[in-house]
Amino acid sequence: MEEYNDTMKYWDNIFGQANIYDPRKVIKIQKIEDGISWLVKDSKSIIDFGCGNGAVLLRSLYKGIDYGYGIDISNNAIKIANKIIRELNLENKVDLICGGIGKLNEIDNNFFESAILFNILDNLEPEDSINLIKQIHRIVKPNGKILLKLNPYITAEERKEYNFIEISQEFYKEESGLYLWNLTEDKVHEIISPYFIIERYEIIEFKEFNTINRMYYLRNK
Ligand SMILES: C[S@@+](CC[C@H](N)C(=O)[O-])C[C@H]1O[C@@H](n2cnc3c(N)ncnc32)[C@H](O)[C@@H]1O
Repeated sequence: MEEYNDTMKYWDNIFGQANIYDPRKVIKIQKIEDGISWLVKDSKSIIDFGCGNGAVLLRSLYKGIDYGYGIDISNNAIKIANKIIRELNLENKVDLICGGIGKLNEIDNNFFESAILFNILDNLEPEDSINLIKQIHRIVKPNGKILLKLNPYITAEERKEYNFIEISQEFYKEESGLYLWNLTEDKVHEIISPYFIIERYEIIEFKEFNTINRMYYLRNK
């Protein structure tokens, strides 16, 4: 996990300064709220890898999920989520653990009905990203749902502005210390299609940050 020390520091710093929030409130970005509605329909359990402060995971509980399980490398992120869980008496409905991708080995095959992967798959080392896809495929039951959100593809022109350090082809370390596996649409299809079927694709605009995210509604094969 040492290779993620800078990632951990970055997110511990962000979540160390973050406030608690209310997961009973509708998420302001309608496409995310709609994605969660699709995810929770006919689904009782959910795993969120890279769950951060639990915003999407806890929202899923209020939209119909019975049991949620979150994993995140940032202890400060988990602390915030746990504070909210205690305040809202959700202890029996959710478990959170601090750790990395290795924690997924401890979970049985087909254990969860659905999964959330929000802004994590393209921020890992490529080898770990592929492992994450395989693990989620193994852990989620066949035909289960996965909601995947990715960063935008950064063009060569945009990369000049960002001072990325290139580690290997299309794999960078950003100035922040975060990794970016810069995935084209074709590459996304190549890596996920052996394991998942894409049911729907959405572009989410974040106007205030002048950026977009890509969101995929996936069905486990
Ligand atoms: C962009 S944030 C997204 C948080 C959350 N999924 C959301 O959408 O609100 C990325 C999260 O992934 C976590 N993370 C990054 N690398 C990780 C790793 N190798 N193992 C586990 N969590 C990781 C970070 O700590 C951070 O909380």
